[in-house]
Amino acid sequence: MLAGRRVVLGITGGVAAYKAAYLARRLVERGAVVRTVMTDAATEFIGPHTFAAITGTRPVVDLFDADDVSPHTTLGRWADAIVVAPATAATLARLANGLSDDSVSATVLATAAPVVIAPAMHTEMWMHPATVSNVERLESFGYHIVSPEAGALAGGDTGLGRLADPDRIADAVAGVLPGGPLTGVEVLITAGGTREPIDRVRFLGNHSSGKMGNAIAAAAARRGAHVTLVTAGPGIEHPRVTVVPVDTAAEMAEATWEMAEKADVAVMAAAVADFRPAKALDGKLRRSDGPPMIELEPTPDVLRGISEMTDRPFLVGFAAETGGIDEAVAKAQRKDVDLLVANDVTAPGSGFGTETNQVTIVLPDGSTDPWSLLPKSEVAERLWDRIAELRKSEGTST
Ligand SMILES: Cc1cc2nc3c(=O)[nH]c(=O)nc-3n(C[C@H](O)[C@H](O)[C@H](O)COP(=O)(O)O)c2cc1C
Repeated sequence: MLAGRRVVLGITGGVAAYKAAYLARRLVERGAVVRTVMTDAATEFIGPHTFAAITGTRPVVDLFDADDVSPHTTLGRWADAIVVAPATAATLARLANGLSDDSVSATVLATAAPVVIAPAMHTEMWMHPATVSNVERLESFGYHIVSPEAGALAGGDTGLGRLADPDRIADAVAGVLPGGPLTGVEVLITAGGTREPIDRVRFLGNHSSGKMGNAIAAAAARRGAHVTLVTAGPGIEHPRVTVVPVDTAAEMAEATWEMAEKADVAVMAAAVADFRPAKALDGKLRRSDGPPMIELEPTPDVLRGISEMTDRPFLVGFAAETGGIDEAVAKAQRKDVDLLVANDVTAPGSGFGTETNQVTIVLPDGSTDPWSLLPKSEVAERLWDRIAELRKSEGTST
C-alpha cells in the first residue's frame, strides 16, 4: 500500500525524535517517497542530516529559510499522507487550535491529505485534561491518532506515553491512504463470542476468540473499505475500522441491525449465543444455596434480522459445525444468505482461538467449495476475492 506513495513525516521536539529515523527508514523500505519537516525543538534531539541521509532530501526546518518559497503549502499539496511522529504536547495544542507558527503545524494545516498523529510524552502530560481535549479535537478533524504505549520513558520513568512502535505507525499511514478495490464500500462485521450473564460475575459464553472476524475486518480495510466491527472480542486498530464493543447477543443484534442499514456487505463471523438465562441474578449465586436451575430463553437471531431486511446488504454468514457440513448447507438456504462460511471447529488446526482455519464455502444453491487449511489472514483475503466475484456477477462493480 505504501509503494510509490508520497508521505510527509513531521518530527517535533521530544526525546522520541530519534525513533522518527526508524520510522523514516521503515517508510522508505516499504516503497514510500518520504519528505521530512522538523520543528526547531526537534533539531535539539536529532540532526536534520540523519533524515536527509535516510530519505535523500533535506528536511524543512525554517519556513523562511528553505529552498522553496512556500514549503508548507508545497508539501501539503504534494503529500498523499502526513504523519507527525513524535508529536509533542505543544504540537498537539497547536494543531488542535489551527496555529501554524512552525514548519510542522503549517504543513499539517495546509493539507487536504489524511493525517496520522503519533504522540509521545510523559504520562502526566498525556493524561492532562488539556492534552486529552486537544486529542479529542484532532480526532474530530478526522486525524488518526496512533496512541502511545506503556513502557520506559525518558529520565527513568515508566508509564503511558512512549511513542508507538514505528511499524505500528507505518501501518497506520498505509491504512489512511486512499485506494484499493473496496474504496467507498461500507462493510459491517461481527466477531467474538457473546457473553450472557447468569449473575453479576458469571456468564454463558463460548470459545470464540474473534480472530477470524478481526482478520476479515483487517483485510477489508486494507482493500479500502470502511469497516464497522461489532465485536464481543478484542477488536483491531486501523484508521478505517470503527470498533463497536458489545457483550451480549442482544447488544450485538441492536448495534448490528442499526449499522446494517447503511452497509453494502455484512459478514457475520461472531459466535452468538442462541440462548441466554431468562433472568440474570442481581448479586452472586452462592455455593451454599446449592446448584441453581437456570431457565434459558432464545436470543435475537442477528443473521436472520439482516436477511429479512427489505434492502439488505450482501450477506455472509458463518456456521461453526462439529462434524460434516450438511447442517451448514441447510443453514445457507434457511437463513437466506449470499454465502456461508462453514467450519468444523473440531478439525485439527481449525476453529476457535487457532491461527489457521479450514473452511468450506457454501452457496445458497447448495454448492460447496472446501478450502485447504490456511492462516486466518489468508482465509480472509480469499473470502474477499470470492465476495468480489459474487457481487460482480450480481452487477455490483466493487
Ligand atoms: C529533555 C526534554 C525532553 C522533552 N521531551 C518531550 C516529550 O517527549 N514530549 C513532549 O511533548 N515534550 C517534550 N519536551 C518539551 C518540548 O520539547 C517543548 O514543549 C517544545 O516546545 C516542543 O516544541 P515543538 O512541539 O515545536 O517541537 C521535552 C523537553 C526537554 C527539555
